[in-house]
Parts: sequence; C-alpha cells; structure tokens
Amino acid sequence: MSIIRAFCTRAPHAKLDLFFGNHDLQSIIFHKELSALAHAHLNLNVTHVLSAPPPNHHGPQGRLNADTLRKLLPINPQAHYLICGPGPMMDAAQTLLQNHPIPHDHIHTERFTPKPARPTSTAPPTGAIHTVRFSQQHRTLNVSDNQTLLEAGLAAGIDMPFSCAVGGCGACRVKLISGEITMAQHHCLTQDALDKNHCLACVSKPRGPVVIDL
Ligand code: FES
Repeated sequence: MSIIRAFCTRAPHAKLDLFFGNHDLQSIIFHKELSALAHAHLNLNVTHVLSAPPPNHHGPQGRLNADTLRKLLPINPQAHYLICGPGPMMDAAQTLLQNHPIPHDHIHTERFTPKPARPTSTAPPTGAIHTVRFSQQHRTLNVSDNQTLLEAGLAAGIDMPFSCAVGGCGACRVKLISGEITMAQHHCLTQDALDKNHCLACVSKPRGPVVIDL
C-alpha cells in the first residue's frame, strides 16, 4: 500500500496495475483508499479478483491462481512485477513470468514463511509418502511428509480455501478425521477448535495415513 501511495504522488508518468485477490468485497483491505486513489490517478488500475463475489461484481472471479493470472497479467519485458501473497499464488505468478522473457531483476517477491514447525509428533520429516483422504471429495492422494495438506490438495486440483498460507488467518481450516499430522504455528485456532481436531491445511503435514474433511 505504501508503494502505491508513493507511486501515485511521485510517478505520474508511470503506470501501475494492481491485481488484488480476495474472498469477497468485505475482505479487501484498503478498499476505499484504493478506489479513491484509482479515481484520482488515471495511471493506477485496480482489478479485484474475488472468489466469492457479490452478484453485481463485474470484475474477474475465482482465485488468483495460474489460470486467472494467465488471463489477466499483462506481459511486458519493460515492466516490473511485485508479487506478494499466499505461496501457491506467488509460485504460479513466478512460473508464469519466468516462462516469458521477463528479466529476473524485474520480478520482485515478498514472502512470509512459517516459523519452524511445532510438531504434534516427535518424528522429523523423512520424505516418506502417506495417503491423505479428502473424505467429501472421495479423493485419496499420496503426500510426502515434507508437503502440506494444502499444497498437496491444490496440486491435485482440489478446490481448497486458503488465504495467507502461513497459518495466520484460518481460511484453510480443515477437520482431521483420523491420522497423525504435524502442524506449524496455529495461533489463529482457538483451543475449542483444536479440541475438535481442526487444523490448518497450509501448515499441516501428514505423519501417517490421514483422513480430512474440508
Ligand atoms: S491459509 Fe491462512 S491459516 Fe492457512
């Protein structure tokens, strides 16, 4: 947001396109300020990509993933790209840009990585493969104990909700029906949720055969 504010006041001849992925209108931080800045500065374009849009939303719908990025992102070797958000979205954007002749030093990323795991099991990750069953989807995946449930589900095309991807928001919460996992930081889960075997798919990794409910 501070980059956008500075851009609007100091770079009137440049152009900035913001592609902002959110769940719905209510979850857009700085929504009013962004609208006001875009209204006042014709060189700022703001595109809201909503996964649960209201009926009157005319912008792009869905998650900001490889498909939507491919349709939306202008590819320009002169441009600079600043990427920040959930890991899978960042990976998709980086892969897309790297498949075009965009100079590496034009791709800027800001990643927030999880703190070290606080395991519910003392066994360290070994790369062992475990089955993870997504009970409502009737899908069973083979997942390494180095991989999060979210990474595995998204890679297999399962439409899993998520937002921060670092254990901070609770959007990826799933219920552990059976099995053993490790879960890194889970500060956004209440004790009640933990007692009910809820876990955060973005920071949970299997330690044996696991069954979950989305
Ligand atoms: S996506 Fe935010 S806690 Fe998992």
